[in-house]
Amino acid sequence: MSEPLLIRIARAADAEFIGRTYDEGIADGNATFATGPHSGEERTRWLAARPATAPVFCAHQQKTPVGWSALAPFSHRPWYSGVAEYTAYVARDARGGGVGGQLLAHLLKTAPDYGYWKLVGMILADNAAGLRLADTHGFRTVGTHRAHSTLAGQWRDVIVVERHLTLPPKVPPSA
Ligand SMILES: CC(C)(COP(=O)(O)OP(=O)(O)OC[C@H]1O[C@@H](n2cnc3c(N)ncnc32)[C@H](O)[C@@H]1OP(=O)(O)O)[C@@H](O)C(=O)NCCC(=O)NCCS
Repeated sequence: MSEPLLIRIARAADAEFIGRTYDEGIADGNATFATGPHSGEERTRWLAARPATAPVFCAHQQKTPVGWSALAPFSHRPWYSGVAEYTAYVARDARGGGVGGQLLAHLLKTAPDYGYWKLVGMILADNAAGLRLADTHGFRTVGTHRAHSTLAGQWRDVIVVERHLTLPPKVPPSA
């Protein structure tokens, strides 16, 4: 377990780190279908454009950024407004030391403040670290989307995981 991190809302000053770390995940070839590269400027605009329901967090260890995480609405349909998709990226040289675990634990604790009662993860089937991280934080596997999209010309499977945070309100949000 790594030492406790300072995890707070990401600021414009974190944008360069966020872009660099995102590009590391892209280079791994099993984190995302997104393509890079991402500059600090582009990530600054991305951060500024995110709605209140899509917060981004940055984790620092002794003032050095080591990882970031984000929530985004699972769907534009209002009846799913309590469901968020999560993302977590740890700088390559900080992986394997519990940073991802702290980021996900923080998301689980914080997501209800943004109106969410469930988190969903969409994890490429060969992303062993991402799957393990979800598993050790109480996510259950919903199933596998077969050949859900392509990466470097290859069809890839995506495993869907979910975890309830709170019980849904009795009356769901109306359309
Ligand atoms: C997935 C990721 C966030 C995990 O972060 P991390 O700081 O390395 O994870 P932790 O050290 O907290 O480890 C979490 C669990 O995964 C396990 N793990 C870590 N790396 C692993 C690997 N390469 N293969 C298998 N399991 C691994 C750890 O042993 C730990 O399991 P445990 O709780 O049983 O001990 C990190 O690898 C990463 O940034 N990857 C690129 C982005 C990505 O794929 N994000 C996930 C999709 S949202």
